[in-house]
Amino acid sequence: MHSDTASPKPLAVVVLAAGEGKRLKSRHPKPVQRLCGRPLIDHVLDAISGLDPARTVVVVGVGKEEVIAASSRPGVEFAVQERQFGTGDAAKAGVGPLGDFAGDILVTCADTPLVTTETLAALRDLHARQGAGATVLTAIFDDPTGYGRIVRAESGLVQAIIEHKDASDEVRAIREINAGIYCFDAETLSRYLALLKPDNEQAEYYLTDVIGLCVRDGVPVAALTAPSAGEVIGINNRVQLAEAERIARDRTRTRVMLEGATLIDPASTFIDAGVTVGRDSVIWPGAMIFGDSVIGEECEIGPHAYIKDASIGDGTVVRQASVVTDSIIGKRCQIGPFSHIRNDSRTETGVRIGSYTEVVRTHIGEGTKALHFTYLGDAEVGRGVNVGAGTITCNYDGRRKHKTVIGDDCFIGSDAVIVAPAQIGDRAYVGAGTVVTAPVPAGSLAVGRARQSIHEGWADARRERDGI
Ligand code: UD1
Ligand code: CA
Repeated sequence: MHSDTASPKPLAVVVLAAGEGKRLKSRHPKPVQRLCGRPLIDHVLDAISGLDPARTVVVVGVGKEEVIAASSRPGVEFAVQERQFGTGDAAKAGVGPLGDFAGDILVTCADTPLVTTETLAALRDLHARQGAGATVLTAIFDDPTGYGRIVRAESGLVQAIIEHKDASDEVRAIREINAGIYCFDAETLSRYLALLKPDNEQAEYYLTDVIGLCVRDGVPVAALTAPSAGEVIGINNRVQLAEAERIARDRTRTRVMLEGATLIDPASTFIDAGVTVGRDSVIWPGAMIFGDSVIGEECEIGPHAYIKDASIGDGTVVRQASVVTDSIIGKRCQIGPFSHIRNDSRTETGVRIGSYTEVVRTHIGEGTKALHFTYLGDAEVGRGVNVGAGTITCNYDGRRKHKTVIGDDCFIGSDAVIVAPAQIGDRAYVGAGTVVTAPVPAGSLAVGRARQSIHEGWADARRERDGI
C-alpha cells in the first residue's frame, strides 16, 4: 500500500504501553483492556502491521507480563520502562533497542486503538514530503478536555503542544488536539528526548515537548489532521472505552451494509471485524455475530441470535435466540428458534433444526429434520431422517462419550432414547418412547417400551367411589 508515495527511509515503530491507566480503575493494565473482544494493543499492532515496519518496539512497564502476553507476535520487540516518568521517558526507553537506527520512527500509544493503517501511512508520507524532523497527528474535537492542545502561530505553523493540565484558559479554548501519534526523524527524536525536563504540572517528561524544542531550533515540524476525530480518541476511562467500542462496531456495520447486507437496526447489531456477511442477507436487532464467522448470501439472522466462529450457508435462516458456535451450517437450512449448535457440528443442505434442540459434535445429512426438543450429541445422522420430538442421544455414560450412528431415511419416533454406542441402519423405524439399547438393522422396526394395558371402567368407578 501507498507504494507510490511511501518514504524510502526505513521505518521503526515505538508503541507506548507502560502506563497504568489509573482512570480505568482496573486490576489489569490499560493495553490489555478489551475493545470489540480484543486487547487495545492488538488493535494498535494491527494498524501498524499494515505499514510493514522494519522494527516494532512496545514499551511495557505496569503489568508488563500481561501486556507482553497480549502483544507477542512475530517481529514485535519489548523495551521496559521501569518507572512511569511520562511519555517522553517512555519514548526514550522505546528508542533504546533501536540503537543508531537511521530512518523514521513512528511513535504511537496503546490507548489510541482506532487509528487506521491509512492514517498512519498518510502521516509518514506527509513527514517525508515535507522533509520534517517531526510530524504530529492532530484532530479537531468538539470537547478537547484532557488532551494536549496544538498551538499554532499566525502563519499556521505548529509552535508547541501544551497539555490540558498546563494550559491557560486561552489555550484550553483551542479545539485542535494532539492525537499522541507522531513521525520523527530518528536522530532528531533521540537528540531532543535527551533534552526533556520534567518542569510541568505533572513533573513528567513530556514527549510533546520535543515539538516545541524542534520549533525553537528551526527543525521543520509538520502536522496532519486525522480524517475523522473518532479515529484518534484516547482511552483513559471506561466512558471513552464504550465510545471507542461504538465507533469500532460502527465501522464494521458500515462495511457490512456497503457489502450488501441489510441491518434492520444497526445500533443494536453487534458484528466483529473478522466477520463477513453475504449479499441480501438480513440481520435483525440484537443479533451478535462474532469471531471469524461467515454468513452466506440471502440468509436471515433472527433477533438475538448468537453466532461465533461459525459458517452459515446461503439462504439459511437462523431464528430468534439461537446459538451457533464453532460449527458449519449448510445451505437453505432452518435453525431455531431457541436452538443451540456447537462444538464442530455440521449440517448439510436443507436441514431443519427446530425449537429447543441442542446439537453437539454431530453431523447431520441433507434434508434431515429434528424439529422439537431434541438432543443430538456425538451423532452421525444420515440424510432424510425425521428425528421425532423429544429424542435424546445418551452419549455420556458418566465416564466417556460414545457415538450414535443413524442411517439415511430413518424415522425416529418421539421421545426415543438412544443409548450410545448405538447403530440404527438405513430406513429403520424406531417406535415412539423406545429406549434403543441394541443395534437396529436396516429397514426394520425397533420398539422397546412397556405394553399398554386397558382397564375398562376403572376411572369412572374410582370417581364414583371417591365422590370426585
Ligand atoms: C497524551 C499526550 C497528549 C495527547 C494524548 C492523546 C503527553 C504528555 N501527552 O496524554 O498531548 O493529547 O496523549 O491521547 O504525551 N505511557 C507510558 N509511560 C509513561 C506514561 C505514559 O508508557 O510513563 C503511555 C501510556 O501507557 C499510554 C500513552 O503513553 O499508552 C499515553 O499516556 P497517557 O498518560 O494516557 O497520556 P495522556 O494524558 O492521555
Ligand atoms: Ca491517554
